[in-house]
Amino acid sequence: CKKSQGVIMKKFNKLESYKKLKKHYSEIKNINLRDLFKKDNKRFDKFHINFEQILFDYSKNLITKKTLDLLLQLADEINLKTAINNMFSAKEINFTEKRAVLHIALRNRSNYPIIYNGKNVMDDVNSVLDKIKNFVKQIHSGEKLGYSQKKFTDIINIGIGGSDLGPMMVCSALKPFANKNLNVHFVSNVDGTHLAETLKKINPETALFIISSKSFTTQETLTNAISARKWFLEKTGNKQEHISKHFIAISTNSKAVKEFGIDTNNMFEFWDWVGGRFSLWSAIGMSIALYLGFDNFIKLLEGAHSIDLHFKNQPFSQNIPVLMALISIWYLNFHGIKAQAVIPYDQYLEHFPAFLQQLEMESNGKYIDKNSKEINYQTGGIIWGEPGTNAQHSFFQLIHQGTQIIPVDFIAPVNSHNPIDNQHKILLSNFFAQTEALMKGKTEKELLKELKLQGLNDQEIKKLLPHKVFKGNRPTNSILIDEINPYTLGQLIAIYEHKVFTQGIIWNINSFDQWGVELGKQLAKKILPELDNNDIIKSHDCSTNGLINHYKQKRKLI
Ligand code: F6P
Repeated sequence: CKKSQGVIMKKFNKLESYKKLKKHYSEIKNINLRDLFKKDNKRFDKFHINFEQILFDYSKNLITKKTLDLLLQLADEINLKTAINNMFSAKEINFTEKRAVLHIALRNRSNYPIIYNGKNVMDDVNSVLDKIKNFVKQIHSGEKLGYSQKKFTDIINIGIGGSDLGPMMVCSALKPFANKNLNVHFVSNVDGTHLAETLKKINPETALFIISSKSFTTQETLTNAISARKWFLEKTGNKQEHISKHFIAISTNSKAVKEFGIDTNNMFEFWDWVGGRFSLWSAIGMSIALYLGFDNFIKLLEGAHSIDLHFKNQPFSQNIPVLMALISIWYLNFHGIKAQAVIPYDQYLEHFPAFLQQLEMESNGKYIDKNSKEINYQTGGIIWGEPGTNAQHSFFQLIHQGTQIIPVDFIAPVNSHNPIDNQHKILLSNFFAQTEALMKGKTEKELLKELKLQGLNDQEIKKLLPHKVFKGNRPTNSILIDEINPYTLGQLIAIYEHKVFTQGIIWNINSFDQWGVELGKQLAKKILPELDNNDIIKSHDCSTNGLINHYKQKRKLI
């Protein structure tokens, strides 16, 4: 085991607490949630946290007090506290890219100094925030107009991954708070359909394009940006000087922005210590600030900051992100579970699972540890989800009766922005019922009674009963939020960010790089010119050659 920045980089599965948890698992692997609740009517009191407007109920998990104690020991043994302090004090914890990880600075509303490379990063953070504030004001007030002196009506964010998913999810989640005079659109896919279908809705005279790319080298984003610029010029009489009024850039790469043709006065900067998937708090959030207003953007930052302080200061036994991470580790590494679902019971949060997919899987889908050694335990789980109740009518069958156990996070607002008749009550009754059903299941005995009451004979019951049994004992977390607003959404996102961080510390991996996305990009660059001519391609394996040649044969040459 090595030591880095005060953190002991011990192999996770060599820790004393890991061994104790292994033993503990073998002792309690047959525990039953229904029994645990029957035996202890204070279980909810013991296993929930109220933090401001958030209730986090983790009582419906396959844990006992001892499980929790051992998981907390694990957090201590891995030196989680030091690791958290290292992130907050700008240590270069993203060591493969030699960078600090400072999304917490972007929302440091206490404005305490954060020194990195001898400089207080808050100076830059605050100055870019001021620049965003000013820009948003100018757009909203009409001080900045399009080339034909018209007010902007549509913002088109062109970006992908972290330069898309975060702002896109937030704008969608906070639609009720939107500035009514601006529409927002997100174009991410290099599939021309995404851009074409978006541009159909756009009047170039009132369109503001935001080219969002940390690196400003991402193929998808630059391709869409070039096409959007071409479209814009064609529609507006090919006047280059109009570009500066209608295109802005968000990036860390001013050189590439300039080369693209965007004046650096129209560029909003961020820094390499902001990871793409953690960047919605930076100038990448420009679409959020324009769509929801700058004050709401600040409230989002404030919410996240409140969770940063909670994560940093609360004892781990009262710390929502830490508990979420520990419980997920319990399932992934001791129960051998592979996947976890996140089900928002809020239509506005429909993109939250997609956002979490990048956050969790790009961060923790790693098989090399911080000692540069291959890992022999499971890391990042598979995350997916859909809004409830739709999910109930598609994949919940597998969650209730499938052969795999899928722990589920249920998320809902107590108060809806659209309380039509009793619809929100119906929605929430489903939320409560699903967590109860997954926990309790339905026994043979209960079913027998039910089927007899329905008048089925013994023969019919024998055949049907096994299909209708619910074993239950399926774990869930429940997160109830008084209302989804900019502040509470900031909190929710930050909770998951810190959950991911904690998991990465325990697994001893670097959660902040993403080398795994590089190979495909490299190969695509090699293949692209091969598609330019009609030559038969032989340079790949026979499957790849076959696919390319099939495409070349069948394509309609325009
Ligand atoms: O390819 C993955 C990735 O690098 C993500 O980590 C990132 O969020 C996305 O691409 C977009 O990158 P950029 O903001 O540099 O265009």
